[in-house]
Amino acid sequence: MAFVERRIAVVGTGYVGLVTGAVLAKVGHRVTCVDNDPAKVRILEAVKLPIYEPGLEALVEDVRTTGRLAFSGEIAPVVGAAEVVFICVGTPPLPSGKADLSYIEQVARDIARSLGTHYTVVVEKSTVPVHTGMRVKRTIERHAPAGARFDVASNPEFLAEGTAVRDALAPNRIVVGVDSERARVVMEGLYAPFACPLIVTGIESAEIIKHASNSFLALKISYINAVARICELAGADVVQVARGMGLDERIGPHFLRAGIGYGGSCFPKDVDAFGEIASELGYEFTLIREAQRINAEQRTRFIRKIEDALWVVKDKRVALWGLSFKPDTDDLREAPAMDIARWLLDHGAVVRAHDPVAMDKARVLLPKVDYGADPYAVCEGADALVLVTEWKTYIEADLGRVRAAMRHPILLDGRNVFDPAHVVALGFEYHGVGRGAVAGHDGVVRGPGRGR
Ligand code: UDX
Repeated sequence: MAFVERRIAVVGTGYVGLVTGAVLAKVGHRVTCVDNDPAKVRILEAVKLPIYEPGLEALVEDVRTTGRLAFSGEIAPVVGAAEVVFICVGTPPLPSGKADLSYIEQVARDIARSLGTHYTVVVEKSTVPVHTGMRVKRTIERHAPAGARFDVASNPEFLAEGTAVRDALAPNRIVVGVDSERARVVMEGLYAPFACPLIVTGIESAEIIKHASNSFLALKISYINAVARICELAGADVVQVARGMGLDERIGPHFLRAGIGYGGSCFPKDVDAFGEIASELGYEFTLIREAQRINAEQRTRFIRKIEDALWVVKDKRVALWGLSFKPDTDDLREAPAMDIARWLLDHGAVVRAHDPVAMDKARVLLPKVDYGADPYAVCEGADALVLVTEWKTYIEADLGRVRAAMRHPILLDGRNVFDPAHVVALGFEYHGVGRGAVAGHDGVVRGPGRGR
């Protein structure tokens, strides 16, 4: 299918909207990103991004200079002129675990009222439950002027935070769900510049592909975390076990890192939502419910490890390395560091934390934490160091210097990034996750001359 340049409206300028807009402009389309928050639009127009995402600011700046990417606070004229409209608004979780679709419904109504007289494809990009496409279609039909010509398509986004630009410029696959030949042709022409496979399915299948993919990855993480438990009990090392498993190409090496469990804005919410969708459809998806349970337990078990290592928590000085839910992002949603810091503060510890980019956001949420200028400063006089997020700067840190700065060299490695033999040789007491093989009978690896 040959490339066809399109006028595109992207509604919603969060992670997904911004990256989608910038990448589609980069490959040659004319894109306007719309947001109903005027302050956000002003910031974007000044080419300042409200989020930290490697490569995104440079990409936005690049496509802005070509004139192919614009921002606007007015949905009606932008949608009215567009041939393809992407819905990229948030679907935050409701207390029930279901996704809150009120923004999607509102935007569908706004789009309906703004449609031009030409044919338009309205694309759901946000992660939504199956059948949302059909509901968006009905909503638009109800509110659009008589004779409006449009189709709805589903085009789920698979980008991960921290690698979003790379993921969107060079995806593994593009999934497009359509229920008309005309929409299929538009979507194929739109994505013609991408070299990866383009999978065209029905709308419901595309919606399920997104849920099933995220939940499968979450299952994989919970599986390895369950194996980590067994490794601790059996005297094995889950890092070695995962390496051995991952070399089987049917299993693959990715998403087999045991640790504090998954967090972030997607997996916790999407796994929950998939479970709810399944129940609503009449199937109890107990497998993913168990994955959720293992994940929650992983976090509480790690906190128990910290407690056990410190014994009395009150007045102990604890250094935290990493606050964001994963490296290369400043996103603190469902970040384990937040729970760990809160628990430590509630139990009377003095918490000093460092993160390369997330400290400004964390200050607002946890003002009682003392934030340090660099990873070494927070270790001064510490009774324990807890590695929560595996930023490269921590993996490459001078642990000899850290050891010298600490009052008691207890190292709790929530992501299994350190070599236990190396850190123990430096004099640390080491606690990983699922590393029974390198621990003593009580699950602890101590440095020379350091008993407890
Ligand atoms: C995820 C999906 O990868 C992406 O395709 C989807 O569009 C959105 O959700 P994201 O949440 O940004 O992306 O990050 P990801 O790298 O997938 O990590 C998710 C969580 O799993 C993080 O908390 C990470 O620390 C954890 N994780 C990941 C593990 O605990 N072990 C692993 O082996 C991999």
